[in-house]
Amino acid sequence: MTRTLEVDLGDRSYPIHIGPGLLHDPVLYRPHIRGRQVMIVTNETVAPMYLAPLRAALDGLEVREVVLPDGEQYKTLEVWNRIFDALLDARFARDCTLIALGGGVVGDMAGFAAACYQRGVAFIQVPTTLLSQVDSSVGGKTGINHPAGKNMIGAFHQPLAVIADTETLDTLPQRELSAGLAEVLKYGLIRDPAFLDWLESHMAELLSRDPEALAHAIRRSCEIKAQIVAEDELESGQRALLNLGHTFGHAIETASGYGNWLHGEAVGAGMCMAADLSARMGWLAEADVERVRRLVTCAGLPTEPPPELDADRFRELMAVDKKVLDGRLRLVLLTAVGEAVISDEIDQDQLMATLSARRP
Ligand SMILES: NC(=O)c1ccc[n+]([C@@H]2O[C@H](COP(=O)([O-])OP(=O)(O)OC[C@H]3O[C@@H](n4cnc5c(N)ncnc54)[C@H](O)[C@@H]3O)[C@@H](O)[C@H]2O)c1
Ligand SMILES: [Zn+2]
Repeated sequence: MTRTLEVDLGDRSYPIHIGPGLLHDPVLYRPHIRGRQVMIVTNETVAPMYLAPLRAALDGLEVREVVLPDGEQYKTLEVWNRIFDALLDARFARDCTLIALGGGVVGDMAGFAAACYQRGVAFIQVPTTLLSQVDSSVGGKTGINHPAGKNMIGAFHQPLAVIADTETLDTLPQRELSAGLAEVLKYGLIRDPAFLDWLESHMAELLSRDPEALAHAIRRSCEIKAQIVAEDELESGQRALLNLGHTFGHAIETASGYGNWLHGEAVGAGMCMAADLSARMGWLAEADVERVRRLVTCAGLPTEPPPELDADRFRELMAVDKKVLDGRLRLVLLTAVGEAVISDEIDQDQLMATLSARRP
């Protein structure tokens, strides 16, 4: 059942292992750990479930852990600093390894700490949410939030390996599973109409956590992400396609206070808004907008932004997003279901119409 993909980045290439029971397989970790010091970064929810088996897999090494509070609202400079406190307190050297055990929040924070500690140390991702297994653990984007905007402070720092144990998804709350499906749908929408068809006909299996269906969705998602990252590691071009729905979504997350809307929920609504705008600009058929909305609904995700977020505030928040270049807003829009483009020729009136529209 285990499959290994590769992110092809020359001498920084790395494997993504996907399968059941991988968390406690020592063989997967050893090739990537050079020194003897290992710091596991996790949070208070994940630690009671998965810290002990991970520790057992690292038997014989000098293993410490730092357990962070759980939640997007803690993806801050202050909480991030606790990782350095732990590393310095234990006198960890440059040849130490950081392991992120948890979802995207832990992965982004641990990865960014690995990028900065002593100017960069080894890093392994052990993602335990669907979202982190299909998206955030792959590709090397790391960072933390600022009150003014999501992920505004960060670095590119590729892991040495991604170890995605699909059995860890058994304990994931249903709302988090749906949030992960938002990113899975994203891959189909931007690159792979056949995968989207498959998702449409297997959504019930995915929601009921059929292991085969989940494994297929994770593999295909990682394949697409790995391919896009290999083509454009630092997002000078096509990698920005992965931001479909995210400029809208980040505005929703910032407006609602971090942690109230899940990232995947905001992306779900954001993808519907991107489809809506694509149709207003004449690029996408109305029937396709409805198809996107149906898929997002079937995945258990919202299709509309919060009612209290008005268009002017929305646009203001979107302007803070990193995708603004030379003062011009750039958005990922759909030209078909399964095909996306990056555009900075956004008609302001049509954008405002999308931002204020609330469909029945
Ligand atoms: N770096 C990237 O490329 C990238 C891409 C997408 C998203 N992100 C970031 O990822 C974050 C979202 O990640 P997420 O959705 O994984 O959220 P998360 O890390 O907050 O995890 C969701 C919740 O599930 C809990 N959890 C984790 N694993 C569990 C398990 N196996 N069983 C039960 N509960 C478990 C967590 O403690 C948390 O409460 C956001 O901060 C987003 O910005 C980064
Ligand atoms: Zn995302």
